[in-house]
Amino acid sequence: MLKVISVVGARPNFMKIAPIVEAMRRRATEFAPLVVHTGQHYDAQMSGAFFRDLELPEPDVHLGVGSGTHAEQTAAVMQRFEPVVLRERPDWVIVVGDVNSTLACALVCAKSGVRVAHVEAGLRSRDRTMPEEINRLVTDQLSDLLLTPSPDADENLLAENIPRERIRFVGNVMIDSLYAQLERANRSRVREELGLGRGTSYAVVTLHRPANVDAREPLERIVSALEQISARLPVIFPAHPRTRRRLEEFGLVERVEAHAPRLRLVEPLGYLDFLRLYSGASLVLTDSGGIQEETTALNIPCLTLRENTERPITITHGTNRLVGMDAARITHAAFDALDHPRESVPPLWDGQAADRILNALLEQRWQR
Ligand code: UD1
Repeated sequence: MLKVISVVGARPNFMKIAPIVEAMRRRATEFAPLVVHTGQHYDAQMSGAFFRDLELPEPDVHLGVGSGTHAEQTAAVMQRFEPVVLRERPDWVIVVGDVNSTLACALVCAKSGVRVAHVEAGLRSRDRTMPEEINRLVTDQLSDLLLTPSPDADENLLAENIPRERIRFVGNVMIDSLYAQLERANRSRVREELGLGRGTSYAVVTLHRPANVDAREPLERIVSALEQISARLPVIFPAHPRTRRRLEEFGLVERVEAHAPRLRLVEPLGYLDFLRLYSGASLVLTDSGGIQEETTALNIPCLTLRENTERPITITHGTNRLVGMDAARITHAAFDALDHPRESVPPLWDGQAADRILNALLEQRWQR
């Protein structure tokens, strides 16, 4: 029986851990799961709603860390996670993705002699101005088992001299959640509540990267593009708290709201409502990593409003196009994506990644 701590911290972690915990509960003779929530995200809409929607059990331990600078947040997670690891002495700790909580917990494990498995290892944007890239690089160096979502990730790790025997290509566990919840999501009334009747073509936009929202100029350029796109089809914009605050600060809320109801700013949505919303969209515009993958899995055209992506497979084997932050380029790409959609799904994005992850934990003979 393996005792396994799964760590969640921020919104994009919940849909990666949920299928793993569910699989461990199903395989209760092999695994004893514990869930630790660092509290990096804490709002009901950024955290609580996801536990409900994803049928994740309440965390066994809540570290209550909250917001702060990168150093404050990372340090607080480390300080509060270390006693949990020392008390529980798990066989494995699973960390997912690339948020500050991921790095902080991996670092604690590496120093406490507890084996750590990184799910979604090996992704690289090669842009070290992104905090997530730093988190990915360091977490992968520290991890004992690197579970990758796509073959490009294996190649990145090998190029960084990570021993091959620590790397396992398991596929994309986010897609396990997507398939598991699709039916429940179909019961959501979010489209009707937003006035999107059957057969209505619409776009969905999400933004939260500091590079896009923390300065006036890029955010204003994106708003200009959204204004133009909303002339062709309605655009729904569920805003992350950081983005909402910036729009207010830069006086852009009025500009967006002047285009209502064609362009609609709404509160962040829970997992099921958001899945229901984007799964019916004709186009998604985003700077999120996970949404590039989810749209690829469902063949929804996606524009990534960034200069790089750590998920190139969504472009080579998916619906994603990298379009940067220039208003004219975004608008042109939006119309092109609407007129010329693409179709294909990467290998092992099949809803079975969680079991492959658990098998890898059981099989890993490598000792530190
Ligand atoms: C974090 C992750 C990012 C991920 C994103 C998803 C890091 C470095 N970044 O960014 O990779 O894509 O989550 O959302 O870990 N806030 C709230 N309520 C909350 C959480 C945050 O209001 O529940 C506000 C706070 O003002 C906070 C700000 O949002 O200061 C940013 O939160 P933070 O966790 O620092 O980073 P995110 O931008 O959410």
